[in-house]
Amino acid sequence: MIDLRSDTVTKPSKKMMQFMMEANVGDDVFQDDPTVNLFEQKTANMFGKEAGLFCPSGTMTNQIALMVYLKPGDEVICSSEAHIYNYEGGGIARNSGASVRLINRESGILYLNEIIDNINPDDIHYPKTKLVALENTVNRGGGICYPIEEIEKISNYCQSEKMPLHLDGARLFNALVKTEVSAYKMGSHFDSISLCFSKGLGTPVGSVLVGSKDFIHSARRVRKVLGGGMRQSGILAAAGIYALENNIQRLSTDHLHAKVLEESLAKCSWIEKVLKVETNIVVAYLKDEYLASEFIQKLSDCGVLAIPFGKGRIRMVTHLDISEKDVEKVVESLKF
Ligand SMILES: Cc1ncc(COP(=O)(O)O)c(C=O)c1O
Repeated sequence: MIDLRSDTVTKPSKKMMQFMMEANVGDDVFQDDPTVNLFEQKTANMFGKEAGLFCPSGTMTNQIALMVYLKPGDEVICSSEAHIYNYEGGGIARNSGASVRLINRESGILYLNEIIDNINPDDIHYPKTKLVALENTVNRGGGICYPIEEIEKISNYCQSEKMPLHLDGARLFNALVKTEVSAYKMGSHFDSISLCFSKGLGTPVGSVLVGSKDFIHSARRVRKVLGGGMRQSGILAAAGIYALENNIQRLSTDHLHAKVLEESLAKCSWIEKVLKVETNIVVAYLKDEYLASEFIQKLSDCGVLAIPFGKGRIRMVTHLDISEKDVEKVVESLKF
């Protein structure tokens, strides 16, 4: 099967596994694991941050950040398409007891003027606006990248208002490769960033939350409460170090493959429109007469896996286990 359901389906390469097997380990709850410590510091340094925290998943790094910033009665501003709102099991309400102000936009990109319009006045009737959260790339927006100029404007405003700015950077490395913005520059605009390594970068497990020393100190407490403190996790952190050194620049290959799929889907008779592809995610809308489930089944019969992505929408994601040959096969399968 050619698996385009997500970039999370990749298997660690032999070289990555070799690197993992050779890792020096210790008990990370005591902060004794040298490989975890190195991985956290390397990731934090890359983004110009003081500290990092290795966690089992991107949901956990996002939720921990939200729990550090928010308490019941507070409000976070995010996009209606945001992963933190749509796909984290209602975690904002459940874990932080906070309210959410959604800004509706298909692309999932927020603009400064809309953010300003959605900040509540200091009035006892309203929740307190305490945080702005962006996502880059935007998963439900079809892997689209934030314009760095907009991030700069939002960041300057948030700093002037002393409002923290969090980034769900599950696929931030894809955005950095595509837009040629440095990790350091991107990092300078956010108070905290959640970075996933088990997506485009191809590790079996793990995300890192980066921020100031004080922020990560608080985050470490929350990770413990959630049961996310791991022991000899240097084996997993080693995969992350390997990925930082070997799997970032190659993301451009995934982006090229996704572009080819965009063109083929646009020609398929069942497809109404394809969202503009910028990175490794392809989202397409079906014509009214077709169901996403039928489309997925038709492709599956040809050996290609994709997923439904809301009503009448499907998603395909390219990754490091998809070769040029696989892409050619998918192109053939879409000729109907
Ligand atoms: C944008 C975004 N944020 C966060 C996550 C959560 O990552 P995890 O599956 O590791 O919890 C995902 C997962 O697909 C995602 O796409």
